[in-house]
Amino acid sequence: MPNNVNSETAWNYHEATKHSYTSVRTNPRFLDFGNQPLPFKIYPALEPSRMPTEVRQTGVAALSAIAGSVAAGPNTALDLDAVGQLLYLSAGITRQRKYPGGEIYFRAAACTGALYEVELYLVCGDLADLPAGVYHFAPAEFGLRRLRAGDYRSVLVEATGGEPAITHAPLALVCTCTYWRNAWKYQARTYRHFGWDNGTLLANLLAVATALGLPAEVVCGFVDATVNRLLDVDSQREVAFSLVALGHDSGLSARLDPPSRTTPRTISEISPLGLETVPLSRDEIDYPLMREMHAASSLESAEEVAAWRRHTPLDPGMADFPPPTGPVIQLSPLSDAEMPRDPIEQVILRRGSSRQFARTPISLTQLSTMLDRATRGIPADFLSPIGSQLNHLYLIVHAVEGLESGAYVFHRDLGVLECLKRGNFRDQAGYLGLEQQLPADAAVDIFFLADLRPIFDRLGNRGYRAVQLEAGVIGGKLYLSAYAQRLGATGLTFYDDDVSRFFSPHAEGKSAIFLIAVGESAKLRP
Ligand SMILES: Cc1cc2nc3c(=O)[nH]c(=O)nc-3n(C[C@H](O)[C@H](O)[C@H](O)COP(=O)(O)O)c2cc1C
Repeated sequence: MPNNVNSETAWNYHEATKHSYTSVRTNPRFLDFGNQPLPFKIYPALEPSRMPTEVRQTGVAALSAIAGSVAAGPNTALDLDAVGQLLYLSAGITRQRKYPGGEIYFRAAACTGALYEVELYLVCGDLADLPAGVYHFAPAEFGLRRLRAGDYRSVLVEATGGEPAITHAPLALVCTCTYWRNAWKYQARTYRHFGWDNGTLLANLLAVATALGLPAEVVCGFVDATVNRLLDVDSQREVAFSLVALGHDSGLSARLDPPSRTTPRTISEISPLGLETVPLSRDEIDYPLMREMHAASSLESAEEVAAWRRHTPLDPGMADFPPPTGPVIQLSPLSDAEMPRDPIEQVILRRGSSRQFARTPISLTQLSTMLDRATRGIPADFLSPIGSQLNHLYLIVHAVEGLESGAYVFHRDLGVLECLKRGNFRDQAGYLGLEQQLPADAAVDIFFLADLRPIFDRLGNRGYRAVQLEAGVIGGKLYLSAYAQRLGATGLTFYDDDVSRFFSPHAEGKSAIFLIAVGESAKLRP
């Protein structure tokens, strides 16, 4: 029986990596700054070719770009400028700040601890100004290092069991995650962060693709070993986590599969590269739980991938979610005609996690617009039909005009918030958010909870990757929809079981997956 089916490993991992009041006191973290990992993957023997640095102004409103997607239709042209735009606005360095021990290079998307464990690789055919190949994106140089010359897309077609978007994509992006770069600080909980940090990056990427008129689809079903081999990553350290198909060429599948094919398609045909990379740290600490989680959620053959994908259809009406029984408040999101029109590229460059919230209220319209725009659906192979969602959103409202302070649950299908309990919960929110001030001072804290049982029944251990990734994408969209309305936001971590308890009995049986706080950012003194 394939590993993925028995979801005991995902349950064990989830239980073992919960934060609680006791766990953070019995397992204090000491950060060894002398052994801090490098924030970049460096191939010393390969010179990067630089990309154009100018940000193309699409002028597409951020609130449109995050809410929509482009259907696969007529062929879409992709050139190096567009590739540069996609990479810069999802994983490029957008700010840097000196601190006594060095310098932090902040990137376009939020990332736990600013540790940036997600690497991006391109697998493409010939594009305008970019010859076919497998490339690594180097954010420090804003360049591409070519790892393999030639068209290797057929390897991804095979590895995804013929996934339609990959089969027709002029370009596929592979997102990998590097354990140690994040585990240096977050230890075994890092595997959850893979989904969160890959997800926020994908929220930017999907929005920019939409603004550029490109179809994009997130693909989580692939034969892990084949994709890792194509990139030639050391899979004890770095693993492929998600793929993104970009663009659409209707004639591609026929051209990719000529009778006398010259490019390899199976793992045994892909030669190792043996490229040297600079060690991230003096030494690395291993957290085997994460590698067990990864191995148990790996798919081993194209047939297993195709079967996995067939199991993914979910109920878009969220039949497992009871209709409201408490008081409901109708949300009032802004329409396209009314919404702020700040373009996506400006909003991404403006974003940066709030470090302090002013305790001033936001409006119900702002909150409604965020919830509406961020949850209109993600094009992904594990969210079929589009609009399906694995996570449910629960809110602690502290300061939203027209909304009593209290705990709420969001009924996406009805566009309403159901009140679960009224009261001032600032202190509890601060506690639930790992005893930090940010969730206590925010206008609203949005918790993501998921019923893992049906997700694991459908998707196996890989459902754990999917639910964390989806949370990261929706979280990233909430970040952008807050900044598009000139509000602030920050992702946060949390005390798992206390969160579920706080929202129970409604959230009985659900697991805490993600947290984002939103409000007016307080101006910090320099
Ligand atoms: C999922 C997630 C969880 C986070 N958790 C915390 C947190 O618990 N406390 C905190 O102060 N910041 C938290 N952050 C914010 C990160 O520290 C921040 O994204 C990172 O330093 C990069 O800075 P930037 O978002 O301003 O670009 C989190 C961010 C994400 C995406």
